[in-house]
Amino acid sequence: MKTNRLSAKLAQALNEQMTKEAHAAQIYLSYGVWADNQGYGGISNFLFRHAAEERNHMMKILEYILKRGAKAVVTAIPAPPADPSSVNNCFEKVFEHEVDNTQAIYKIVKMSFDEEDWATWNLMQWFVQEQTEEETLAMNLLDKIKISGGEKATPEALYELDKDLEKTPDDATLAQNVTTTNP
Ligand SMILES: [Fe+2]
Ligand SMILES: [Fe+2]
Repeated sequence: MKTNRLSAKLAQALNEQMTKEAHAAQIYLSYGVWADNQGYGGISNFLFRHAAEERNHMMKILEYILKRGAKAVVTAIPAPPADPSSVNNCFEKVFEHEVDNTQAIYKIVKMSFDEEDWATWNLMQWFVQEQTEEETLAMNLLDKIKISGGEKATPEALYELDKDLEKTPDDATLAQNVTTTNP
């Protein structure tokens, strides 16, 4: 009796997304190492925490593939890209990686919609929300570096920013959770 509840197409897409999340973790990990080497302990701490989140995303997809009776394939993770050239560049790259990941998620949403695979569609809604949150978080980083002077940020401004990121929460507030008294 066939118990696999995922189409071959979706199983492949989810497997690829699983590796993409692992790749995202490697990217955050490598940027965190870069930041630490530059002396930015707070930024590094923030990036390392985020690397762990991406590993959790990988695990969620892996578990889902298994629970739907399909085969999860653990493959090599592509190497992270080159180190950022500055804190400003680091945050720009973080934003770009998140947008790129959002696009990959959207493709799977569309695929599951077309197949009327509502279980996968449902899982992907979690990821849609997560990506909205992560894009917001990345945009907040860009706001912070912009206020600090962007590429021209002074060592003093970067010092303050670094301290700030040490304490920055991992999650950004979603619009749907905001009220008039708690904007
Ligand atoms: Fe992710
Ligand atoms: Fe992410």
